[in-house]
This record gives sequence, structure tokens and C-alpha cells, in this order.
Amino acid sequence: MEKFEKKIWLSSPTMHGDELKWVTDAFDKNWITTAGENVNECEKLVAEYVGCKYAVALSCGTASLHLAVKLAGEKLYGQPKPNQGTLQGHKVFCSDMTFDATVNSVAYEDGEAVFIDTERDTWNMDPVALEKAFEIYPDVKLVVLVHLYGTPAKIDEIKAICDKHGALIVEDAAESFGATYKGKQTGTFGDYNAISFNGNNLYSA
Ligand SMILES: Cc1ncc(COP(=O)(O)O)c(C=O)c1O
Repeated sequence: MEKFEKKIWLSSPTMHGDELKWVTDAFDKNWITTAGENVNECEKLVAEYVGCKYAVALSCGTASLHLAVKLAGEKLYGQPKPNQGTLQGHKVFCSDMTFDATVNSVAYEDGEAVFIDTERDTWNMDPVALEKAFEIYPDVKLVVLVHLYGTPAKIDEIKAICDKHGALIVEDAAESFGATYKGKQTGTFGDYNAISFNGNNLYSA
């Protein structure tokens, strides 16, 4: 195979001046942990920016998705027995073209992912395929929806289908922090939402 001459890079980290200052600040104040002024400020700024009530900072997008799916599972099916995930014995509809963290979050909670096909316009979950999936599996109550490469999925259509079937949405906005859908930030449409600050995820920022 020939090497491609022209490449379109997905994303590379960008520095804006103050990054080292805040890392140094955390070192100087000895807040090298899961709490501290910087973490509080980051949670506040993100919540304000996307326009949601609260944000909780975890170690990465994968951990946020896991927590989101766990909370959704507990809301739907109650507290699991010890050593069991909240989705034990349940199917969950998931975007099929995505980074594996989207789907891993379901596996961590012992759920079974059912992949929903992708449509051509946004490369995200196809509402037509989702509706069909509900016909086949009417008991499903959770959908994990990704916005791939910073491009929002067809949220209105997908939300309408989920509402009709009484299903919750976990929104994987790991790659779409800063992207808007009809003027509203992604990461605010689901019942639980996750974003990521992994340098290679900030496509739309
Ligand atoms: C769609 C998607 N979901 C989740 C993640 C996980 O985010 P993180 O790398 O911060 O764990 C990524 C990227 O890594 C991603 O691309």
C-alpha cells in the first residue's frame, strides 16, 4: 500500500498559554489528587459553558461514561447485587461506529450491547435503524449515543424515538465538547452526558 501524501489530521493537542501555570499551581499547593480548587473551577466552568446544572470531573472520558451508564442502569433497574453490574441481563442500544469506550461502559456494567447502524449524513446512529431495533427488542430502556468526530447526531429524531419507548439516553459527547445542535451544546441532551479532555478528542473546540 502506498503512503498517503496528503493527510487530514484528526486532531492534535493545542496549548493556549496557561496550561503549565495551572499544573504548576496544583503542584505548588499539593493538590495532586481528585479534589482541589482547580478541579472545582473546572467543573464550574464546564457546567456554565455547556449550560447544564452540574459537572463532575473524573479521571477521563471513559470513567465518566462508565459512571453515566452505571447511574442510568441503577435508575432503570435498581441497585445490583454485589459483584453484579447494573445492566446484568439487559440489552442496551449503542452507536456502532465509535471509539470502544462508548460500548465498554455497557460491558463494565454487565449489559449486552446491541449495535445500531450508522447513517450517511452525520456518521452517527441512524434513527430509522433505532426505531427498527425497538420493534425487535421492545424491552430496551437505554441508548448510548455518540457524536463522532465532533459532529452531532440526529438528536431530535433519536430523542423522539427514545421518549416514545420510555428509554434513557447516555450521551457520549467525548469528541464533541463545544459542538452545538440547533444552538445548544452537545453534552446536554442525554439523561447522563460525558465529555472528554483527551487531547485527541477536541475536534470541535
Ligand atoms: C467517542 C469516544 N468516547 C469516549 C472516549 C474516551 O475518552 P477518554 O480518552 O478521555 O477516556 C473517546 C476517546 O478517547 C472517544 O473518542
